Order: sequence, then structure tokens, then C-alpha cells
Amino acid sequence: MKMRIFVPRDAAAIAVGADEVVAALEQIAEKRGLPINIIRTGSRGLCWLEPMVEVATLKGRVAYGPVSPTDVPSLFDAMSSNGPHPLRLGLADQIPWLKRQTRLTFARCGIVDPRSLDDYRAHGGYKGLARALSLSPDAILADVTTSGLRGRGGAGFPTGIKWKTVAQTSAERKYIVCNADEGDSGTFADRMIMEGDPFVVIEGMTIAAITVGATRGYIYIRSEYPHAVEAMNAAIAAAKRGGVLGARIGGSTHDFDLEVRVGAGAYVCGEETSLLESLEGRRGIVRAKPPLPAHKGLFGKPTVINNVLSFAAVPFILDNGAKTYADFGMGRSRGTMPIQLAGNVRYGGLFETAFGVTLGELIDEIGGGTFTGRPVRAVQVGGPLGAYFPRALFDTPFDYEAFAARDGLIGHGGVVVFDDTVDMAKQARFAMEFCAIESCGKCTPCRIGSTRGVETIDRIRRGERVAENLAVVEDLCNTMKFGSLCALGGFTPYPVMSALKHFKEDFGPAPTRLQAAE
Ligand SMILES: Cc1cc2nc3c(=O)[nH]c(=O)nc-3n(C[C@H](O)[C@H](O)[C@H](O)COP(=O)(O)O)c2cc1C
Ligand code: SF4
Repeated sequence: MKMRIFVPRDAAAIAVGADEVVAALEQIAEKRGLPINIIRTGSRGLCWLEPMVEVATLKGRVAYGPVSPTDVPSLFDAMSSNGPHPLRLGLADQIPWLKRQTRLTFARCGIVDPRSLDDYRAHGGYKGLARALSLSPDAILADVTTSGLRGRGGAGFPTGIKWKTVAQTSAERKYIVCNADEGDSGTFADRMIMEGDPFVVIEGMTIAAITVGATRGYIYIRSEYPHAVEAMNAAIAAAKRGGVLGARIGGSTHDFDLEVRVGAGAYVCGEETSLLESLEGRRGIVRAKPPLPAHKGLFGKPTVINNVLSFAAVPFILDNGAKTYADFGMGRSRGTMPIQLAGNVRYGGLFETAFGVTLGELIDEIGGGTFTGRPVRAVQVGGPLGAYFPRALFDTPFDYEAFAARDGLIGHGGVVVFDDTVDMAKQARFAMEFCAIESCGKCTPCRIGSTRGVETIDRIRRGERVAENLAVVEDLCNTMKFGSLCALGGFTPYPVMSALKHFKEDFGPAPTRLQAAE
């Protein structure tokens, strides 16, 4: 019997040599006359162990990692005999970092072959759609609403309400748009699921389509994600061949067509109205709301626009019941969140868990502290518009409201860790600079305020009239927060003000603290 070996084709695994490992596996197997079958999966999300290679055994898949091509000869010895190996991690399912997770959305990621519709089905795929097809749109809406699912793109808006608005708006044509622009720093969950389990995104979008009466959909993917584009295109073609996309889905009366569009790389194109402009072929500039996209979205028609993870959560809800999903979490944050640990962290990767885990648990226990081994000083949660939290706030649970109560946001679930060498005035400057570069330019507080912010923070860092200039920064932040049209200008004050509030000692002339630390 052929030895079944699993190697991720995920971009992060490829970046650290997964393709070279596959080439070495094929070469050595041929040399030794070993019959093997290599299945390219997604990543399990344990980034520090990539490329992680798994081999099927009678007890389950045994994992090894991180594997380099030079490890392959000894790896074959170990895999053939199920014997010891320095890189052996044991049964993949039993690796503590994985076992501790609650994988509802990412249940199949790293396990299935993302190119195979049959494999997706064999692991429970398309059961959610089958159930949805047996229900009325109102019943589906009730499920999505009861699940408590909130948008995973950043704002945390209830998905059920958004879908209901589109369902209740009559029009001859409606659209489903998947926001896969994933611009937040330290985030990669959208990419991982598109590369590792693309059918779940398609299934979620298809359920949305039959619920609201949409017939056409687009997945807007950033150009920096070529592997995700390839995976989604392959999955769309396979879903069409399999009769679960296109005309008369699953033998029903519903039609739904889907295509991928590649964005040209602007952070603001992740903002929903700017994304719609870009999809329509124009420059990505934010539209004033109202009208909401749910009323007048793509090409002026009612449009559901959701993040990749929001759509990917839906098949589980339909298949397992809204209550099962809602049983996880805390407060108004129901279900699970695929959290992404990044930056200066020892164990970086994707950790899906129920809402409620504290920031301290995430950083110290799950993340294992910093990669450099130095003390953690600051953590930015929620992308470039998220606040910096010091250790004193590590008791904050991962929950939309708990973070908001401390002037933070969880956004798309990105967590970026910094050690004690970080200069927080520099980070505050970076937030303003980022806003200045990425601003769409439509409104003055953001376009001009961010540039003035950079200049003022520079003056503070040079020690020029520090107290006065700090007051100017605060004033600018208030103007941006309350006067900007969208959250790019409106939320840039969060990283800036949190840096000022929690790390005031960094705002002055010489970075004395850094000298002391060295
Ligand atoms: C500047 C800016 C960038 C954004 N980038 C993204 C993004 O990359 N992906 C995303 O899903 N949402 C992004 N959003 C949020 C979207 O505007 C929108 O809220 C989201 O796509 C709605 O989907 P959801 O309800 O499923 O979260 C961004 C918002 C702003 C203001
Ligand atoms: S806040 Fe910035 S990005 Fe948003 S609309 Fe105004 S100028 Fe454009």
C-alpha cells in the first residue's frame, strides 16, 4: 500500500520550504522504490513547525516538523518503521497547541485536500447547504441570527441583521461580496482558510445567496495572495462541476455564480464601500453612508458584504445548529474566533478558540511569550487601527465589548507582540504615517490630520516643546476620531492615544528607557 504523506501547500509553509521538501520526498521515494502518495493540504496553523509533514498511520496522522529537505532520508526511515525521530511531534491531533483549540471554522484546514470537492464532502462539507436548501429564507435567517455570529472583518456587526436587510430589500438583482482584502497587520486567517479549505467559503457565500435571493457573487482578494487566488479559482471550478455552484444549485431552483477579483493593494480597499468602488472598476475611495451596501451596494444593488471568516462560519451553524455555535463564547461575542498570533512571539500561528480567552493566556501561555525571549512590553490587537495594550491589561478577555471598554478593538483577531525594546513613540508615529499613506483622501481630518500627526510626533521625539505638542496630538486625534468619514481616520487615534496613555515615558527626547534596557 502507498504511504500517504501530507504536506501543506499553504503560502507560509511554501515560504519556508514546503515545495523543496515535497521534491526531496519524491526523489528519495523514487530512489528507494517506495510507493508514496503526497497530498498537499492547507496548514494546521502552527507556523513555527512549518513545513509540517504528516504521515497516515493506523492510529492517525503522525506529524514531523519543521522539516527541511536534508531531513527527508531520516524521515523516511522513521515514517516506514513508525520509529523515533528528532522532529517527531506525535499524533497531529494530540499536539497540545492544537488540542487546546476549538476548531469550528478551521475544523478541516490542514486536514483536507483543498483541491478536492470529494474530500470536502467526506469531511462534512456541503451539509450546511443541504440543510439550508430544505429551509425557508426566514428559517435560515433565524439560525444565523440565533447563532450570534458577528462580522469577523472588524466591526463585529451582527451577520443575521445584515442578511435580513438585504433579504427584505427588493431588487431585480442582488449580490454577495466576500471581503478577502485582509489588510490588517499580523493577520492571515482569511488567506489560510482560502488556501486550506476554500469550499467552506464558497458554501457560506452560497447559503447567503439563497437566503437573500442573490444570483451573483464576487470574492475580492488582495493581489499579495496569489496562492489563495489559485485555490479559490480551483475550488469554484470544482464546485461548478459538482453542481453546487452555478445554475440550479444542488438540483434546486437557485442559481448562484461566483468569481474572484484581485485587488491592487490598498488598505482602504478593505473598507466595504471602497471595495465596492474598486470592484466596479474605479479607484478605491470610500462612499458616504447612507445608503448602506445592504440597500445600494455593488452596481447600486442590494449587497451582502462579509469577511471571509464570517461566511466560513455559516456552514457549521447550518449543519450543527445555531445553538451549538452560540453555546461557545461570552457576553455578546458568541462562537469562536480564529485568533492570529504574530510579531515577536514564540509560537506564532492560528489559534481558534471560543471568545473569552484572556489576552494574558494568549500571549504568555499559548504564544509562549516573545520570540526573542525578552519581556513582553506591548501588544497591538486588531490591526493597524487597534490599541496597544500593556501587561496591566492582559486580563482583558477576547470579547468585542471588553476590548471596547478599554478603548481597544479585536478587529479581525490579529495579535502583534512587541518586546521591551519597542519604542512606542515610534509606533505612534507609524500609526499616523500609515494613515497618511493609506488615506483615500476623501475627508480632511484623515488626509491632513495624519500628516500633521506625523510632523507633531517627530517634534516630540526631537524634544521640541513636548507638553505643547502632546496637546496638539491629542487635539488632532479627537478631530480625526469624531470628524472622519470612515474608520481609517476614525480609529488611527486608538494606537496613537493608547501608546501615549500606557507608555508615556517613551514620548520625549532621548529614548532613555531603551538605553537603560541595553
Ligand atoms: C480602512 C478599513 C479597512 C478594512 N479592511 C477590511 C479587510 O481587509 N477585510 C474585511 O473583511 N473587512 C475590512 N474592513 C471592514 C469592512 O469595511 C466591513 O466592515 C466588513 O467587510 C464587513 O464584513 P463583516 O460584517 O463580515 O465583518 C475594513 C474597514 C476599514 C475602515
Ligand atoms: S477617513 Fe480617511 S480613508 Fe476614510 S474616507 Fe476619510 S480620507 Fe478616506
